[in-house]
Amino acid sequence: MSKILATWLATALLAVPSLVAAAEPDPRIAGGQENYVRMCASCHGASGRGDGPIAEDLRVPPADLTAIKKRSGGVFPDPKIIEIIDGRRRVRAHGPRDMPVWGKRLELDLGTPQQGTEAAVRGEMLLLVEYLKSIQVE
Ligand code: HEC
Repeated sequence: MSKILATWLATALLAVPSLVAAAEPDPRIAGGQENYVRMCASCHGASGRGDGPIAEDLRVPPADLTAIKKRSGGVFPDPKIIEIIDGRRRVRAHGPRDMPVWGKRLELDLGTPQQGTEAAVRGEMLLLVEYLKSIQVE
């Protein structure tokens, strides 16, 4: 084998793992999806369109989470969505809140004294937001 060919082959083989890596799903999205399936799909549906198995038992229908960006004029409003999911700081003048207060729930799940509970809660929320962003329709 010529030296040039050998070099070319080595380079081509080196490129393969990075191509494979590019096709792998973003780990943040995978982590967010895991949270979503566990915490959200019962109401919002596996697809996110608001058609989960317990949706019809709620007073307020669960929102279609694939159209958040569309409803906000093409921009995904991260801070607003985090606030809605969190629920701890949200004061609503009108209407019931049929969404669980996930901030509180995560705090209880993740919290142990002296640990960065708030940072951990924040991390789980950000994963959820990354996942939600990945399922937006145009
Ligand atoms: C018990 C049912 C239920 C579960 C579980 C649930 N939701 Fe909801 N969600 C709702 C309902 C009902 C609404 C409609 C508005 C309301 O009640 O506040 C809603 C609204 C929302 C909205 C507002 C959408 C918009 O554009 O106004 C977001 C974002 C959202 N949910 C995200 C989530 C995420 C993320 C999870 C999982 C961590 C989740 N929900 C779990 C019932 C649920």
